Formats: sequence, structure tokens, C-alpha cells
Amino acid sequence: MPKKKKSTNKSQWESAAWEGRFKEAADPDAAVFTTSFTFDRVLFPYDIQGSIAHTEGLARAGLLSETEKKTLIKGLKEIALEMEQETPADLAKHPLLDEDIHMHIERRLVEKVGDVGGKLHTGRSRNDQVALDLRLFLRAETARTLDLITALQKSIVLRAENEIETFLPGYTHLQRAQPVSLAHHLLAYYEMLERDRGRFQDSLKRLDQLPLGAGALAGNSFGLDRKANATALGFSGVTANSLDTVCDRDAVTEYLSAASMLMMHLSRWSEDWILWASAEFGYLELPDRLSTGSSMMPQKKNPDLLELIRGKTGRVYGSLISILTMMKGLPLSYNRDLQEDKEPLFDTVTTIQGALRIMKRLTDEVHFRKDHMTEAASDGLLLATDLADYLVTKGLPFRQAHKVVGLIVFKSIDDKSPFETWTLTTFQSFCPLFENDLFERLSLKGAIEKKSGIGGTSLKSIKAEIRKINKRLKSSKHVPS
Ligand code: ARG
Repeated sequence: MPKKKKSTNKSQWESAAWEGRFKEAADPDAAVFTTSFTFDRVLFPYDIQGSIAHTEGLARAGLLSETEKKTLIKGLKEIALEMEQETPADLAKHPLLDEDIHMHIERRLVEKVGDVGGKLHTGRSRNDQVALDLRLFLRAETARTLDLITALQKSIVLRAENEIETFLPGYTHLQRAQPVSLAHHLLAYYEMLERDRGRFQDSLKRLDQLPLGAGALAGNSFGLDRKANATALGFSGVTANSLDTVCDRDAVTEYLSAASMLMMHLSRWSEDWILWASAEFGYLELPDRLSTGSSMMPQKKNPDLLELIRGKTGRVYGSLISILTMMKGLPLSYNRDLQEDKEPLFDTVTTIQGALRIMKRLTDEVHFRKDHMTEAASDGLLLATDLADYLVTKGLPFRQAHKVVGLIVFKSIDDKSPFETWTLTTFQSFCPLFENDLFERLSLKGAIEKKSGIGGTSLKSIKAEIRKINKRLKSSKHVPS
């Protein structure tokens, strides 16, 4: 057997934890390439929380004395406090030797409390440890995300309540289609967010199982009471299969998937408002403080915040695809590829929470150009469908009514004579079923009022919807204070 070359000026804890098996220290290039400490430091509060619970579990199993338990917990708490206060300059001093946040904390613990610190990792692997940290992180960040979604929904409803009788054209194919209430338009985004909320909330159900105790892959040999640990950490159960547990990243994938849908919605909303902010639409004015100028064109006021929400959507999708792709070829069980789950997840959390905050500010502070909306909504052509609907109420099959109104629209455009200015006789020359009550129907308000079913744009329907929403928002578990 070749003789091992032991480093003389380093304790075991200043070197890699697996030093015993190796003849030489890691190459600096390899260390730089493999470390995740540069980005997984954000997990430290959860790593400490998990380690404290694990320490208590070890004591319960008789693997630590009461004094050892207290020493470890005290040390862990001190490290948490120190890490909270660390500045970027302090961070720059950390040796890269720390492979990740888990090794970093363990090293500091041993530096603090001595060899007893080496007992912390009994019956635990970084594989179940990181799985736990991720679940704790996701549980907290999902709650925060839900709070931000609810806050944005509240802002939408507040604006909508004041805009029930503001009308604008609704669009299909980006062509003017039928008049709608601005409140109805705003509440469409509320609904999208409501489905997003459901997806994030649903993901918490599957997250709610403790992975700790799965060990490296096969379970632990120390008879640790996983259920007691689950209770201590606020999980309602424990994972069932250790092989699955150490390499399951469904919770990360679900968060990214729900985040992608959320960003898709915010991006569509941004697109609407970017158009609305243009001179061509002129439906809204962004506050100066939430806009940007041009370095060259003095007249410009740009909707950069909305554009960035739209732009950042691509990077959230990218994160989802990156996780799905990273996962697809992994054999059971843990593989180091899994470390690549972190940056996409952390980046996504920051991105979507930032986007939600900005969208709330814009919702609260944007100025709607009601004059331009009303003017556009007064385009009589928007009432063409109502004209056809009117003929249906007089007994004409819809397909024939559509044709009659098509001819009316053609003539109106051809003669440059808006049909809402026509006399009854002119209408009757197209179809004898037109009567005097036509003119009541042929108005913006009349058209809106007719859409009185659930989900329609009538004032009655919108008010009923807002009542339902307010009831829901009041009973919401995630209403921010
Ligand atoms: N930093 C690693 C990760 O994020 C922790 C687990 C390391 N496990 C191992 N067997 N090398 O996945």
C-alpha cells in the first residue's frame, strides 16, 4: 500500500471531510468547479434549523448526551447569528475548501465546540440534509410567494371596484371586438393569479413530508424516530422510500412550473399594458417614478418595468427547462448533477417575487386614460354583434342575422356613414324585423348590460364577482398584513 501523505499544518476540519480516503487534497480547479457555497449560502437558516432538529433526534435516540446536545445546539445557534451578520467582506474570507453550505456549517461547528461537533452528522448524509433544506426553503418561499400573489390580487380588486363603469373595446386578434368594462379586463388577471395561487398551494401538499432519515440512499442505521423529527420540523408525515427521497426534486420542479405559469400571466398582462401605454392606444399613463427615459430621445417615456417582467419570463422558463433536463437522465439515487437545482430555483424565487412586487406597484399607481378608452369604446362597429343578437330576439336564426348585419357593416363603412346614426327605415331596408326598440339596444350601456350571465361584462355580473372575490380574500390564509 502506498504511504499516505498527510498534511501537517491542517486539521481534518480544515481539509475535506473525506480526507481519510484520499492521498492528496482537491485540486484548486476541481474545488472551484464543484463548490456550491458561492450560491447555496442562502440555505443557512434552514440548514441550521434542520441540524438542530437532527441533534434533538440524535439525543432522543440516545446517541448524544444531554450536555452534547446542548453544546451542539448552542454552537449551531451561534453560527446562525454570526451568518446573519456577515458582510460581503467577511464572506470573501471563507476558504473555497468548503464544498457547500452543509460542510461550511459543520466546519464552523467543530471550530467552535471541538470534536463533539463531529457527532452532528451521525445517521445523516448531505443527501437527505440538502433534500430537507430545500423543502424548508420552498415551504417558506412558497408562503411568501402566495402572500405576494394575494397582495397583487387585492390591488387589482381595489382598482376594479372603481372602474366598473369605465368602458373600453375588448379585443380578439388585437382587433376591436366588443365593448367591455375596464373592471372586467382587470379581473381577468385576478383569475389568472387565482389559478396560480392554487398551483403554489397545491404544491405544498406534496412538500409536506420529511426527507431527513433517508441517509445517503438506504435509510439510517440508528433507529432515528423520523416521525418525531417530522413533527419537530412541522411536516405532517415522512417520505416513504429512501432511494426516491434523496434524489426527488419534484418540489423544486413544481415551484418552477407554477412560477413559469405565473410569469406567463404577468408577461401577457405586461404586453397589454405596454400596448396601452403607446400613443396608438393611449389607454394608460405610467407614473414617472415607475418609467424610464431614453438616453438619446428626450421625449421618450418607456415602460421598461413591464418589458422586464415580459423579458424575465424567458429566464424563468429557462430555469424550469434546466431542471427538467438535468433530472431526465439521472439513475437512482443521488448524483451530483442534483446540485444544479439551486441556482435556477433561487434565481426564480427572486425573479417572480420581484415581478409580483413591481406589478402591484404599477397596479396601484397607473393612471387610466378613461377619455381615450371611452372614445375607443364608442366605435359603433363594436355593437355589430349586438345588432345580430337583437335580430335573433326577433326570431331570425343567428346565421342569417350575422349576414344581415354583415351587409349593414359593409354599407356603413362603404358610405362612411356610421350605422348608429341611421334611421329605422334604413335598418328596415336590410331586414323588416328591426323595430323602434332597436335604438335602446344599440348603445354601449345596452350592449354591456345584456352580458348579464355569470362571467359576463355586465355591471351586475361584475359586482357579483367582486363580492365573491372579496369574501374569498377576507378568508384567505395568506393575506399579508
Ligand atoms: N451540495 C450538494 C447538493 O447541493 C449537497 C449534497 C452533496 N452530496 C454528495 N453526495 N456529494 O446537492
